[in-house]
Amino acid sequence: MSTHPVPVEYARQTNLTEAQYRKLYDRSLRDPTNFWSEMAQKFVTWYKPWDAVLTGSFEKLNMAWFKQGKLNAAYNCLDRHLGTRSKQAAIIWEGDNPDEVRHITYAELYEDVCRFANVLKKQNVKKGDRVCIYMPMVPEVVVVMLACARIGAIHSVVFGGFSPEALESRILDADCHMVITANEGLRGGKVIPLKKNVDEALINCPQVRKVIVIKRTENPVSWQEERDLWYHDLMKTVMPQCPPEMIDSEDSLFVLYTSGSTGKPKGILHTTGGYLVYAAVTHHYVFDYHDGEIYWCTADVGWITGHTYSVYGPLLNGATTLLFEGVPHYPSFSRFWEIIDKHKVNIFYTAPTAIRALRREGDQFLQGTTRESLKLLGTVGEPIGPDVWEWYYSVVGQSRCPVVDTWWQTETGGILISPLPGATPLKAGSAAWPFFGVEPAIVDDHGNEVADDQMGKLIIKKPWPGMMQTIYKNRDRFVAAYFKEFPGNYLTGDDAKRDSSGYYWITGRNDDVLKIAGHRIGTGEVEAALLHNADVSEAAVVAVPDEIKGEAIYAFVTLKVDIKPTEEIKKALIQQVRKSIGAIATLSYVQWADTLPKTRSGKIMRRLLRKIANNDLTELGDTSTLADPQVVDNLIANRLAVEESSRNN
Ligand code: WT7
Repeated sequence: MSTHPVPVEYARQTNLTEAQYRKLYDRSLRDPTNFWSEMAQKFVTWYKPWDAVLTGSFEKLNMAWFKQGKLNAAYNCLDRHLGTRSKQAAIIWEGDNPDEVRHITYAELYEDVCRFANVLKKQNVKKGDRVCIYMPMVPEVVVVMLACARIGAIHSVVFGGFSPEALESRILDADCHMVITANEGLRGGKVIPLKKNVDEALINCPQVRKVIVIKRTENPVSWQEERDLWYHDLMKTVMPQCPPEMIDSEDSLFVLYTSGSTGKPKGILHTTGGYLVYAAVTHHYVFDYHDGEIYWCTADVGWITGHTYSVYGPLLNGATTLLFEGVPHYPSFSRFWEIIDKHKVNIFYTAPTAIRALRREGDQFLQGTTRESLKLLGTVGEPIGPDVWEWYYSVVGQSRCPVVDTWWQTETGGILISPLPGATPLKAGSAAWPFFGVEPAIVDDHGNEVADDQMGKLIIKKPWPGMMQTIYKNRDRFVAAYFKEFPGNYLTGDDAKRDSSGYYWITGRNDDVLKIAGHRIGTGEVEAALLHNADVSEAAVVAVPDEIKGEAIYAFVTLKVDIKPTEEIKKALIQQVRKSIGAIATLSYVQWADTLPKTRSGKIMRRLLRKIANNDLTELGDTSTLADPQVVDNLIANRLAVEESSRNN
């Protein structure tokens, strides 16, 4: 595997060398207290300093960062920048329609956040209350998030692509009493009926008293006089000043739902102090952010990447963050590159699935754009194959810009493994080295560290400031999901290997979590959706590789006796999953199965199903525990039929 040295042009302007990285990294492990104490003072402003940087441990599972410290997230993102940056754009917003652009200065964002914080107070939202945000990518989503933070309310952003059912379960789990939405969203020229989805979700959420609606389009929406309020009307009735609440470092800043391997999505709860320190520090070092640069992370705020690297990280560092409402292919496949030229973007951070889709369309879509403002490229969300990496590096970045392949998770709050631009020689397809304070290891099933170049399970041995606090109202699940398998260590759920130069190569999940176009979906959620259909007796879902989406959903479905498989049922099943979860969870393959392979104790053998779906039949492994070995042969015989049908589609 060849190594790319730091591009010459880049090396000249950067301020971190490989030797400095090593020195800082060593110190961060040797002396975490002083290391994080210095970082916390440098990157965040506190009302009151902490008593202890870190207390507790992974053994006792009682970790707390910057205990007794007091701060406010909105103050740190806005107020403290006003002296030097009031006229600088905090947000550049590019609408779905390229003619719609807004520049929002730090002073303007500050005033709007204060106003909306006053709106929340008037509506009787209190510190610690959960507020659900189901919005498109418009600047108001940042206003609303920071307004919650200003008064100490906990925001729960739900991605606008989730279905009413998925929204409902998240509102109920977090016990939200208020929902903030838009009448409609716009993406790729299409209208997303957000308010209508909220109306549907709220049929079963009687505790929600108020819905605040941003008017994004001119189309009318249905209205419940007692419950629904227009954002713009409310904003006219309040003052543009609102003193920030003093928040305890360990008070929660937000909850964000993500999928686990089984059960319902988990409400990942993040703290204020540790999270903010980690967001600012990682944003600064990984994106080598310098004053005046234009920074663009394409993630929707409905995901953790949007939280940490579209909103909190850049605003903490006084950056100009670009928010994009649309999609990479609208009006054409040149859209990303045109936006980069139009707004002179210096730092661009996106997902491998988008890069693959754009690469497939051909290089002609880059012609006519120069991308000369770019200095740095980043990716996140799934492994980026070396070929795709090389295209991103050489074609998009013209071999001038380092690529930071950043590995992290909703739970980790921020980036844990990534090259640092300038400091890390790059290897295409590797997330490279751990960030400061992060101590990863790769272990076998017994928890023993494996040798270089051996695959194993990725764990993290020590706490870091950005890590989740717990699962909302479910500490038992928090302990069981992350700390039971290897006590004293955080289990990531990913497989990886480390080469002899210390580079990490992360290959993907080793649990039943799927990554469909970078979106995290649990097989259990898809199976539960399939079982909603009255014709279905059993279902098992696995991932198969997909050229663009990375992974695609492959479902084995057993119908009830006397029900004959038909195209109609198949369509109904695809529809059912979209209804339960959202369009991001679209089944690519459905294989009818007379029965599923089970052990004698009745457990479905997913390992076998994965092999069958992937046509990987050379080594089926131990099948001696199967209740009926014939089942596997039948499934293999039918597997070919599935391939045929998808090719014809
Ligand atoms: C899972 C977490 C954290 C941002 C978005 C995803 C996969 C993430 C990489 C990468 C290989 C990656 C892992 C991880 N993943 N980044 N650079 N290389 N895999 O957050 O939805 O919580 O998903 O995404 O499998 O466990 P998420």
